[in-house]
Amino acid sequence: MYPIISKEQLNPTVARMVIHAPLVARKAQVGQFIILRAGERSKRMPFTVSDVDRELGTVAIIYQVVGAGTMELDQLQAGQSLHDFVGPLGTPSELEGLKKVCIVGGGVGCAIAYPAAKALHRMGATVHSIIGFRSWDLVILEEQFRQVSDRLRVMTDDGSHGEKGLVTNALQEWLEAGERYDQVITIGPLAMMKFVAATTRPFGVKTVVSMNSIMVDGTGMCGGCRVTVDGQTRFACVDGPDFDGHLINFDEAIARSRMYLPFEQHAREDACRLFQKEIR
Ligand code: FES
Repeated sequence: MYPIISKEQLNPTVARMVIHAPLVARKAQVGQFIILRAGERSKRMPFTVSDVDRELGTVAIIYQVVGAGTMELDQLQAGQSLHDFVGPLGTPSELEGLKKVCIVGGGVGCAIAYPAAKALHRMGATVHSIIGFRSWDLVILEEQFRQVSDRLRVMTDDGSHGEKGLVTNALQEWLEAGERYDQVITIGPLAMMKFVAATTRPFGVKTVVSMNSIMVDGTGMCGGCRVTVDGQTRFACVDGPDFDGHLINFDEAIARSRMYLPFEQHAREDACRLFQKEIR
């Protein structure tokens, strides 16, 4: 069993949970993920490691309540325990040698983008960050990003916080203004990452995307995270989750991610009845 040390609500549907898992904390690196099960009969869910404290032996994850599995996880509070917490899994992000990087995070993807920004800042790299949300009430980790970024832009679709616009608007402006990056790292919805990659392509900036959002079992067995990279089939959970965004077939990945929507909707309705809770 893995005790939950703390749980903090970051916005109405996103929470940060810190779990005591010393063996995972000892080894986890930026970009890797864990698989957890809330209870013995719960489904397995992959989450990217958001932070680790090797001294305390804790691992933080940030999750959004979007379906039945995360609703069940969200029922647990500090002092209770997770049944399973396995990892670290996946290939760590390759950050060594990067001198100037632009981090582009969207929504809850900012939770995964932040550790990369923090690690690069610690390594002495220049970090420019752009984080985007639908509206002010969904903003997360703004202060944390500010502390590790040389430049930061906060974008909201409706202009209710920061600047009105998309993350790609800000990125385009910086690139057109002459900013040159060793790499752009982007993590968020598939459609957002697709357009970030399209924005950087004409400028020839290497763009790394995280395909963690399409994982199911995280073991290389279910095939749920299959993605076509440069015409080759790859699995996000064992070959990634980081890939060259200019080589990903995003249209295929987006179409495949929609296949699960009816099943997820059904499970979510059951879970809503069970937990008598509404999710947005
Ligand atoms: S998540 Fe199942 S094969 Fe990768």
